Amino acid sequence: MNLDPRPSVIDERLKNVRRIIAVTGWKGGIGKSVTACALALLLAKKGYKTGLFDLDFAGASDHLILGAKGLFPKEEKGLEPPLLEGIKFMSVVFFSENKAVPLRGANVSDAIIELLAITQWGDLDFLVLDMPPGINDAALDVMRFARKAEVLAVTTPSLIARDVLARSLELYRGLKVPVLGVVENMSEGGKAKGAAAVIRRDSGLEKALGRPAALLKTAFSADLGRALKPLGLS
Ligand SMILES: Nc1ncnc2c1ncn2[C@@H]1O[C@H](COP(=O)(O)OP(=O)(O)OP(=O)(O)O)[C@@H](O)[C@H]1O
Ligand SMILES: [Mg+2]
Repeated sequence: MNLDPRPSVIDERLKNVRRIIAVTGWKGGIGKSVTACALALLLAKKGYKTGLFDLDFAGASDHLILGAKGLFPKEEKGLEPPLLEGIKFMSVVFFSENKAVPLRGANVSDAIIELLAITQWGDLDFLVLDMPPGINDAALDVMRFARKAEVLAVTTPSLIARDVLARSLELYRGLKVPVLGVVENMSEGGKAKGAAAVIRRDSGLEKALGRPAALLKTAFSADLGRALKPLGLS
């Protein structure tokens, strides 16, 4: 008998969330976080009720990308995410005070599941999850507990990133997690084989980090915006 109450608590919490988009890619530093943040901004701008959850304990970065300052969830029958640019924003960084969190695998997993169980997302059209690199207990648990999750896979033109991607897609197939499509980031131009969309390398991106309005005006966001339709996100 399974006495763990969390799966049903999480189901209840995510009941009014229409779609959950897990931005993954397994390899580090390929643009998962900027993609997750820009995606949340683009969806919110289109009028969708949007949430963003940064799940990367070791390297939370969405608060930097979006310039979140002085925000903290409110305790109200659980945790209510603060609003940032119209996005309900939750991050593990709220609980780590910007210090490195020396949690071991099972603890990271527990902490993420706990946060999924107590966060009050309310009504959302989209909840975007910024997944940590790699596939570990925590990442697998997110997929197990957030049962509606669909994967948006990020890769780069590098042979190495593509190889890691192919293995990750195989695993999602095995887990029966739907994959929306692959975005090839940091492309030098041209259509990538097997990718639903291409995001070019954008030398202006770095300067826009921390400023959501500027981020929305980058070539990066324009490319991602064009990808929404092929990915079935608008
Ligand atoms: N298309 C692009 N053009 C220029 N710079 C980019 C592009 N995509 C991402 N970057 C830059 O690459 C760096 C890594 O991006 P990001 O942090 O989003 O990667 P990540 O996959 O989330 O990394 P991690 O695995 O550490 O979580 C950032 O400095 C980001 O601004
Ligand atoms: Mg990241």
